[in-house]
Order: sequence, then C-alpha cells, then structure tokens
Amino acid sequence: MAVNPAIIPAPSFQQINDGVFELSSSTGVFSESEFTQVAEFLTSYIKYGSNIQLKSEESKNVINFKKDTSITNPEGYLLEVTSNEITVAASSAKGAFYAVQSLRQLLPASFENSTFKGSSVSIQNIKITDAPQFKYRGMHLDVGRHFFPVDFIKKYIDLMSMLKMNTFHWHLTEDQGWRIEIKKYPKLQEIAAFRKETLIGHYSDQPHQFDGKRYGGFYTQEQIKDIVKYASERQIDVIPEIEMPGHSQAALSAYPELGCTGKPIDVATKWGVFEDIYCPKESTFKFLEDVLDEVMALFPSKYIHIGGDEAPKTRWKNCAHCQALIKKEGLKDEHGLQSYFITRMEKYINSKGKQIIGWDEILEGGLAPNATVMSWRGTAGAVTAAKQQHDVILTPGSHCYFDHYQSTKEDEPLAIGGFLPLEKVYSFNPIPKELTKEEAKYVLGAQGNVWTEYMNNSKQVEYMAFPRMIALSEVVWSKNQNKNYENFKTRLEFYQQRLDARDVNYANHLYEVLGKSEIKEGGLYLNLKTSSNSKTIRYTTDGTIPNINSTIYKAPIVIKKSVTVNAASFDSEKQVSSVFTETVKMHKAVGKKITFDVPPSEKYNAGGNSALINGISGSDKRYGDDQWLGFDGKDVQITIDLGKEMNINSISTRFNNQIGSWIYAPSQVVVSFPGNDEYLPIELEESEEKIVDLKLETKIFTRFIKLKLINYGVIPDGRQGAGHKPWLFIDEIIVE
Ligand code: ACM
Ligand code: ZN
Repeated sequence: MAVNPAIIPAPSFQQINDGVFELSSSTGVFSESEFTQVAEFLTSYIKYGSNIQLKSEESKNVINFKKDTSITNPEGYLLEVTSNEITVAASSAKGAFYAVQSLRQLLPASFENSTFKGSSVSIQNIKITDAPQFKYRGMHLDVGRHFFPVDFIKKYIDLMSMLKMNTFHWHLTEDQGWRIEIKKYPKLQEIAAFRKETLIGHYSDQPHQFDGKRYGGFYTQEQIKDIVKYASERQIDVIPEIEMPGHSQAALSAYPELGCTGKPIDVATKWGVFEDIYCPKESTFKFLEDVLDEVMALFPSKYIHIGGDEAPKTRWKNCAHCQALIKKEGLKDEHGLQSYFITRMEKYINSKGKQIIGWDEILEGGLAPNATVMSWRGTAGAVTAAKQQHDVILTPGSHCYFDHYQSTKEDEPLAIGGFLPLEKVYSFNPIPKELTKEEAKYVLGAQGNVWTEYMNNSKQVEYMAFPRMIALSEVVWSKNQNKNYENFKTRLEFYQQRLDARDVNYANHLYEVLGKSEIKEGGLYLNLKTSSNSKTIRYTTDGTIPNINSTIYKAPIVIKKSVTVNAASFDSEKQVSSVFTETVKMHKAVGKKITFDVPPSEKYNAGGNSALINGISGSDKRYGDDQWLGFDGKDVQITIDLGKEMNINSISTRFNNQIGSWIYAPSQVVVSFPGNDEYLPIELEESEEKIVDLKLETKIFTRFIKLKLINYGVIPDGRQGAGHKPWLFIDEIIVE
C-alpha cells in the first residue's frame, strides 16, 4: 500500500494518478550536476530510512533530477511519480530540494527513524507542481534566555526544512547571555556568556526567587560554521541577530565601558527590558564593527539582524556624551539618536555588501535607508515601512509568537502569557489589509518567534514550536485557495506520525475538548467540540470522570441549574484527551443584557460582551481566554439589566492582577443601582495576588446594576510598564 498523499505545506497543484512506483535497491538515481547534492541527500535519506540503496547504473526504474528553466520561481518544482520514473524538475537546487521534501512525505513515516522493514516500498503515482507564496519563510530561536546544544539546533533546522521553511533567525545575544564566540573580545566568552543564576517561576510571581545556579554557554565559531553548512545543505539561510543598542546587558557586563555609566553590571538573571544599553561612543561603534566583522565572516546570509527593539532611553537622557552627540548631529531627541545609531551601523554593514533587518522600533526617529523591518508589535510597523517602500517581514505577537500559550488548559506548562492557538496561526494572512497591491510587494513573508524565557530545555522548545510551525509553513508557502483548516488538521494528524518517529515533543490539542456556553432564547447551553472531528466526546454531569461508556455528546447540553460537566475524547478503545471540566454557575444575571460605556480591547474580548454573564468563570492563569474581558488603561462602566426588578443578595466578580504583565486590579469599584439611592464605593487594597476577588453583600430590589471600575492609574517607577496606565481585566459578574 502506498502512503496516501497528505503533503504539508499544501502544494499549489496535485493530481493523484492510478498506479505506484516501486522503490527498491534496483531503482536508479540520475541527476544533472547542479542537483547532485540534492540527489545525494535523497539517496542517503532513503538509505538511512530503509536500507534501500539507490544505484547510479542501468536499473529497473529511475529517479531523474532534471533542470527546467521554464520553472520561473527558483524555489518552485515539478514532482511527477509514474510507474517507471520519478521526475524532479526545477530551475535551481532549491526547487529540487523542495521536490525531495514532498517525495519524503510520500514515503512511510518509519523512514524517519530508520524502522522501515522491507526491501521495497510503493509510492503513489502523482503529479505535483508547486511554488511558494512568500520568499521569506522563517523561524526564530532565542538562545540567549536559554542555551540549546548544537544537535538540537540541527534538529530544529532539519524539522524546518521538511516544511520548506527557508530562514533560521538565530537570536544570539541577549541581556541574559552572549552566545557567539568573538575571538577579538574574549570576555564575551568568559563573562557575557554566563549568568550567576536564573529566575524561578513566572516573572509576575512576587517576590522574585532565583535558583542559585550558574548558567550559560556559547557556540564556538567552528560549531557555527558547521551549523551554517548543515542549514545550507537544507536550503536554509541562517540570519544571525546581534542586538543593539538594547538587550545588551550581557555584553556590558564584559565591557562596561561601552555603556553610558561605565559602572560594572552583571549578566541579567531575570527577564524583561533593561536600562543599561550601549552608549553611542566611538569605542562602542568600534566594538560592534569588530564583532560584526567576525559575524559576517561566519554567515553567508545577505542579511544581518541588528535587533533595535526595546531600548529604553533612560541612560541616554542622563548621559553627557549622548546629549552632546544629539546636539552635534542636530538630532531631535533620543529616538533620533537611536535612528543615528542604527543608520550608522547600517552604513557599515552595507559597506560589506550586506543588508540589515531590525525590529519595528527602528522606525522610531526615522528608518535607516535600506533597512528591512520585522514587524512584531502588531502589523503597524509593517504597514508604515511598506508604505515607505521598505521590505518587511511579518511576525506580529498576535499570530507569530510561539512563546504564548496554545491552549487554555490549566495544566499547560508555564509560558510567558498570551494565547495563540493553532487555528489562529493558520488563519494568519501576512499581507496587512491596509496595503495596496503595489505596497504588498514589500512583504517578504512571515516568521514564527520562539522566545525562550520559559523554555529551559529543547523538549519544551519543541512543545511550543510544534505544531504551530507546521501551520505557519502553510501560511507562508501555500496559496490561499489551497488553505483549509479542516483539511489541514487531517493532514496534521497524519504528519504527527512523522514527528513521533523523529522524537519531537509536539503539543497535541487536536483531541482536547473545548467548551463554550451559549445563550439562546433565554436558555443556557454548553457546546462541546474537539478541534479534530475524528474522535467521540463523552461526558458526565454527576461529577464522575467520563469513561468509554459515558453519554456520547451529540447536541449542546441544556443547563438548567449550576452543574459541573466533565468530558473527554475517545476513540473506539480508549480516552485520547485529558479531562475537560467546566463548572457552569447559574445566577440571576446569566443571559441578561450587559452594556459597557467603553468597549473591551479587541485583543481581549474573545468571548464577547456576554462573557461576563454566561455562567462561566475565566481561567485562574490565562487572561487571554474567552471569559476574561480586558480594557486598556481606561475606567469602565458596566450596566446589567436584569429585565425586571428582583431581589438580589450579592454581587461578586474577579479582577486580574498580573502586574508583571501590566495588568492591575482597579483601585476602586463603585456599585450603584439606577432608580435606587444605593451607592457603594469600594476601595481595593493593592494586592500581591494574581487574582483579586470582590464580593459585595447587599439586599436590594432592583432591575439595574451598575459597576464603575476605576483604573489603577499610572504604574509606578521600577515596575514593568512604569509610566503607563495598566490593563484592567474583569471576569464573570455573579449576581445572586
Ligand atoms: C521582541 O519581541 N522584543 C522583538
Ligand atoms: Zn551615553
């Protein structure tokens, strides 16, 4: 039996034909010289996977690599499998390599871990013509916050190449560690590559605690050359990132004279944004140019990423040198100085025949003339830069930050925050809607970012990167009309066999039960579903754990009174998901009318306005779920209309208070009852709890309830988000 074609990313065109090609040690492989290396890649993959040894002489059937200059996209290819011959045609080795990756997915997954038993294998006859939508198909990895071994970097690159991704953005320098050997500056290896200890738990857990263990490491130049070569054999370009002027505390720990104060400082031991950044003096530029000389000698990539993000201007404001330089150069302010810094470095890098990429902050104070912008704070940076005719790469937090949670399950491993499920990644369109067709040409592509504050080992990186990288591969490769999430999930289930064989610790939420309450004609219902429709949901309402004999879910469950629903997915034999538990609390406001004087932020209103009166409370951990509503820096007035006057005894709700994420409970809540005289201001003490409960006991006969939530106010100095007004997040408003 041949493998049923289910290629990811979906090809532009495929036609399955009758018959199969029998691959065996009697199969020959022939190649034009330009494709010899790709043909050898295929030969050794097959040998590794199955012990089948292709020959280069007269044979029963053949695999032929042919150059075809009529294939205009250098990454495009034709793969045609017929009973006598497999043809790979492309105009460059890149296209031929991608044909091989498609062919690989037509072979059994057991090839991936060398467990195929047999002397021949059938390959389905098929014709595929294919080419990518975007030139830049990237994955990023932060090795500064945590350091990963060379073998893992290679595995990551190999897994990328299977998905036809073509750029590895290697984030090599950070406040918490410098990870690339620079021979001219040995203290980068001796000092900047190691921190004395690391924060335990989440940044927002107060007070901060540390593990007391020295941590670090760096890649030698020999290791880097080896990785770059390994990547190039897989048609992957490696773009090194050397951060400037911010995220440079590790470098400053080795060479404090490059900072504004010159004072000694340690490699950072916790996460965040730090004020000690490079001072734009001649000695700093000399240092960075020397570093880049060594970097550019190691990486053949056309691009060097110079960072540019999150550089607080505090030190520059108080530095005599910086202020004199602003005057001398006629710059407007410290943002002008950042622009001067980046433009000067760009000139140096351009003089060596290379181009810069920077995070979207490089727009502030004016864009360096030839820079490519990587838009991460949403897509606005991409829109602005493309309108200025600069190339852009999309990597917005909303769709491309694979350090965010991918499930709302309470037992997900600790992550930085946020919520980015697979479907949302898949739905991403890298072309911002604000761009005209002409401007859209500046969009090179998109990239998934893997920041590793909360990933201290390779397995956790795999968990966060997969399967979201797989969804992204289709975003950047496949044509929109070939994208279909339902179909993708089927192919993903199949692709998982390949991940299993490669020992990839991917997250699998396809079978997890998801619940959503719904108010219909005044009645409350709980809808259950799984992301994949291939399994059966069974549930209980008596508090027991569901088993293979529990009620099968067929239609929304009618909720008449407070109840706990437990559910799980089953195949014909066993449970295949964790247990989903939802407690629905019936109370007097459920399904009633709720209004707000300002709308919740579009980013944090997944459950819609009725999220606060749907009987379901939000996650204790994740404010990004569909039960919490978030308001950006504002006071909010909420009115509930119970429909008619009734007796109520209490009102309770919860506020999120994750101050490390700029989220604060309100300072005051004023409860009033329009039509009544009752007016109850409640002061909230500042709390260290992540969730602040509010319960007001008052007996009153009323139709309307009004809550005015007063925002905490400006975040004090010394905290994350100092100087800004924080977010305010509220949960279910329970009226009894
Ligand atoms: C970033 O996430 N600081 C680019
Ligand atoms: Zn300075």
